[in-house]
Amino acid sequence: VTDPGEEWAAWRQRRPEFRGIHLDSAAAGRSSLAVLEAVAAHARLESEVGGYVAADQAEPAIEHARATLARLLGMPADGLAFVTSGHAALIALLDIWPIQPGDTIGVPPSEWGPNRQVLEGHGLRLVDLPVDGSGHIDLDGLEQLLRASPPAVVHLTQVAAHRGLVQPVAEAATICRAAGVPLWVDAAQALGHVDTDCGADAIFATSRKWLTGPRGVGLLAVAQPWWSRVRFERPALAADGPVMRWVEWGEAHVAGRVGLGVAVEEFLADGPSRIWARLADVGAMTRAELADLPGWRVLGSDDPCSTTALEPTDGQDVAATRQRLLAEHGILTTASQPVRAPRDMRIATLRVSPHVDGTPEDLRRLRAALTC
Ligand SMILES: Cc1ncc(COP(=O)(O)O)c(C=O)c1O
Repeated sequence: VTDPGEEWAAWRQRRPEFRGIHLDSAAAGRSSLAVLEAVAAHARLESEVGGYVAADQAEPAIEHARATLARLLGMPADGLAFVTSGHAALIALLDIWPIQPGDTIGVPPSEWGPNRQVLEGHGLRLVDLPVDGSGHIDLDGLEQLLRASPPAVVHLTQVAAHRGLVQPVAEAATICRAAGVPLWVDAAQALGHVDTDCGADAIFATSRKWLTGPRGVGLLAVAQPWWSRVRFERPALAADGPVMRWVEWGEAHVAGRVGLGVAVEEFLADGPSRIWARLADVGAMTRAELADLPGWRVLGSDDPCSTTALEPTDGQDVAATRQRLLAEHGILTTASQPVRAPRDMRIATLRVSPHVDGTPEDLRRLRAALTC
């Protein structure tokens, strides 16, 4: 793979210099200076004119961001609620969706562990969706399952957190719609990474990862046919407006929403398709650069995503390795414990997730650090 990094040097230059090598966008991407300045400016405005007056002044920008984000998620603007995180979005969705404890929800074995926990905690019964040998949904098998014993909901995580696995959510949405089974999509690792306009009935995401927006902002979007069926009380202080706004709490990280609005404009200016293609190339480059690394096995993937997992083959302690990379080499990665995907991970892995500015040199330095 050639080094197209120079083309993306401007993306890197729009950000503060990183103190080392950042290979951890799947945890939290790096915000641009413009995003950081917008967040700081709003925080300052709150102190200058009052928090609620500042929020009123920011409303046009936030509504513009809502419409743009909803479009990226394939939803109408009135269907999108700002929440605090991806996790909070799933809890909010479970609170409003017309399902009961004891209902079944179809999930693939690779499902994100914390999602499994929340779904089970709400009394849902998890049933396995059929997958092929690489963990992708078997679409024919899904069609058959939905005909034979349809669950109340199908839930897919579009881009896995723990390895390079991208689910065919648009194809699954067509099958689910034909079967009359709603599809929920966890796009926490997908928004800003791959195309998320997929035809889901509900979809949720975070600001801070591939869109490189601020922390503390999450998104939940629900398709229009469900607005009359979701169930929750109108909060006493809620203004008139779309029902999905009732999901939003009165107290919120307004500056973060303002910053996310700037991040998404930068994303649009760079070109979503260009970014998705670049992240797919970065993933391929990462897997190629790290192949044959002594003591580590790259979990293979041809999927169009940056996220790459390395399994230790000599019994190394992954958490200690991640700590050593950071302390001695300034290289930031994630130690993924099996709890992240308990049905899909045998042992802890080292996750490497560069953004569009990732270069072969970054990866060579990681390779050298892992072999020394
Ligand atoms: C696949 C997936 N789903 C959900 C979440 C939860 O998002 P948050 O950390 O914003 O609550 C994450 C976070 O890493 C994730 O990777």
